[in-house]
Parts: sequence; structure tokens; C-alpha cells
Amino acid sequence: MSPANEPGPTTAAVQAVNLVKVYQTGGLPVHAVRGVDLRVDRGEFVAIMGPSGSGKSTLVHMLGGLDGRTSGEIWVDGKRADTLNESGWAILRRQKIGFVFQFFNLVANMTVADNVELPALLGGSTPRHARERREYLLGELGLADKADASPAQLSGGEQQRVALARALANQPQVLLADEPTGNLDSRNTRDVLRLLGEVHRQGQTIVMVTHDARVAGLADRLVTLLDGMIVDDGAIAPPRRRTKPGAGDVVELRG
Ligand SMILES: Nc1ncnc2c1ncn2[C@@H]1O[C@H](COP(=O)(O)OP(=O)(O)O)[C@@H](O)[C@H]1O
Ligand SMILES: [Mg+2]
Repeated sequence: MSPANEPGPTTAAVQAVNLVKVYQTGGLPVHAVRGVDLRVDRGEFVAIMGPSGSGKSTLVHMLGGLDGRTSGEIWVDGKRADTLNESGWAILRRQKIGFVFQFFNLVANMTVADNVELPALLGGSTPRHARERREYLLGELGLADKADASPAQLSGGEQQRVALARALANQPQVLLADEPTGNLDSRNTRDVLRLLGEVHRQGQTIVMVTHDARVAGLADRLVTLLDGMIVDDGAIAPPRRRTKPGAGDVVELRG
């Protein structure tokens, strides 16, 4: 391991060291993640791409402790995390990690507003701060008028955006997102990208799996997975974003 890749208390927001996942199902082992070294610094926005089945979801799930590793290390905010038990991971996630999945998971019998405020309250925010943060996030995502609705009254795309607001409610140390625009039409994708770009400029660390090169274009860095291994890892050239910051230019390329 190079010194730059060494985990330590003042280093990465999240880091994987020789991370391996082998699923043992019905006899044949599946080598989903095969020795990934990935270091994400504070404030970085990393996009992860790769074909279906290349291990992207397995990797980000392990980084958030939602899936156990077979071997290797995970560090979150300078602390070893792969050795935590489930309740240790639950506490770490509540304090430091926001998650948004392709298949969102809202609490059905709570309003949209309460769904978004809950993580902030659990994380120790005052009710007033949680409410302000919720108003900001829902407003940015075009959902201000849905605060009192229940999730079942929303479309799939709206629920997806609520799930993103909830993941960001806590201003987590790191946001892990698995295809957060997977279910969205172009207008909703633009709202999501604008918010991701905005919180990133405010310092939010983001690790985002995506299939969409235009979505990845918002990131600082692109990591490509193939067969459970990183085959490419490099900075994304910024000139387009310099001249016109934000998500708008990314989406305008559609035309
Ligand atoms: N729970 C599971 N049990 C067995 N195999 C799995 C499981 N989840 C994923 N896999 C396998 O692991 C590999 C990587 O899957 P995944 O991480 O979902 O890839 P991606 O997100 O890049 O499409 C695939 O071969 C997939 O079939
Ligand atoms: Mg996946």
C-alpha cells in the first residue's frame, strides 16, 4: 500500500483496503468484489460506473455496512469500521452516512416531512434545525408542496427524491448513492443533479453509482469497475463545469 493510500485518523472520508466480497449461494461462490482499494477524500464527489453485475452495488453497500465483507478493511472518517457489529454500524450510519438507493425505502405511515426530518432528529439536530433543513431540501427538489403527503400518494420519481432529501438531512460525512436517478425522468434528474452539485459545493462527500455518463459528468472523479475490480480511476476534466457550474449543462447535452 502506498503511503497516500494508508488509512489514518486525518485521511479519507471513506476508504476500502483490499476489500473482497464472495457470495456463497447454493454452492458456487460469486466473487462480486475482488480486492478493491478505494480512497475517497473529504469533499470529493466520486462516480462509480461499470456494467451490470460488476459489483457496484455490493461495493457501496459494504462501504455503508449494509452488506458484510468477506475480507479487507473499511475506514469511515479515519476509524476502522469493518470490525463493527450491526449496532455499531447502525450508530455509525446515523452519525456519518447517508444512503440513497435505487429502491427507496420510505416509512409508509409517516408524512414526507417526517421521513426527511427523522434522520436529522436521530442524529441530534434540534427540531427547528431539522425542519429548516427539510424545508431547504424539499424546496430544492421541487417537493415543498408534498411535505404533508404520505409516501403512497407520491409517484416513484417523487419518492426517489424524498429518499435523497432524507439521506442528506443529516449532512452526513459521506453520501452513498446507488443509481439515485435510475427511476427519474429528465426533469427530475435535473433537480436531483442540481441538488447533488449544490451540496457538493457546500463540501458534501459523495460516492455515487450511476449508469449515466452525463450524471457521472458532475463528479470530480470516475471509478470504473469490471468483474469486481477497479479497472480505471481518474479525475474528470473540469472545463465544461468551470464555465457553467451545476447540473444544467450536463442535462442540456441531451438535446
Ligand atoms: N445477495 C447476493 N447473493 C448472491 N450473489 C449476489 C448477491 N448480490 C449480488 N450478487 C452477485 O454479485 C455480482 C455483483 O452484483 P452487484 O454488486 O449487484 O453488481 P452491480 O451493482 O454492478 O450490477 C453479480 O454477479 C451478482 O449476481
Ligand atoms: Mg447495482
